[in-house]
Amino acid sequence: MKFELPKLPYDFGALAPVIGKETVELHYGKHFQTYITNLNNLIPGTKFENADLETIVKESDGAIFNNAGQTLNHNIYFLSFSPNGGGAPQGKLAEAINAAYGNFENFKKEFVAAGVSVFGSGWVWLAKDAAGKLQVSKEANAGNPVTKGLVPLLGFDVWEHSYYLDYQNRRADHLNALWQIIDWKAVEARY
Ligand SMILES: [Fe+2]
Repeated sequence: MKFELPKLPYDFGALAPVIGKETVELHYGKHFQTYITNLNNLIPGTKFENADLETIVKESDGAIFNNAGQTLNHNIYFLSFSPNGGGAPQGKLAEAINAAYGNFENFKKEFVAAGVSVFGSGWVWLAKDAAGKLQVSKEANAGNPVTKGLVPLLGFDVWEHSYYLDYQNRRADHLNALWQIIDWKAVEARY
């Protein structure tokens, strides 16, 4: 299976100032594209040649896992934003957040704290288990909660390439700002 960059439902500059145009150009156009190109170059001739992306992430290791994981991670990440985003989740996802974290404000605090505490490069995820129960999952490097049998709903990239041009070392400021552009309809659709 040949993987391709997903088309973004917004212009490169549309998420500014939360994520600047140059960051989207580099992060989406260069970093994300490179993971996809690497994955497409690595899988021919392996048992993953015709596998779907989640299967590759669950069953691979080494370079294939790293590039497949980052392809899946950035697919979810870049399709979780909207220049008209922000606000709060609704419906069943909102109920599950309240059940797990008390309220939306507490959830956001816990999620950002987890992202800040990832040492080095990685991700913080909101994921659900088979019963629909939510959990915050910290992952190093290319990690994704699908490898733990969970369904990823929302992921914040804490690799420095996602924020350094706009925020330098201020990872917490970046993560807190991201709430302004979250497309909760897209996140709810994954729940
Ligand atoms: Fe990234």
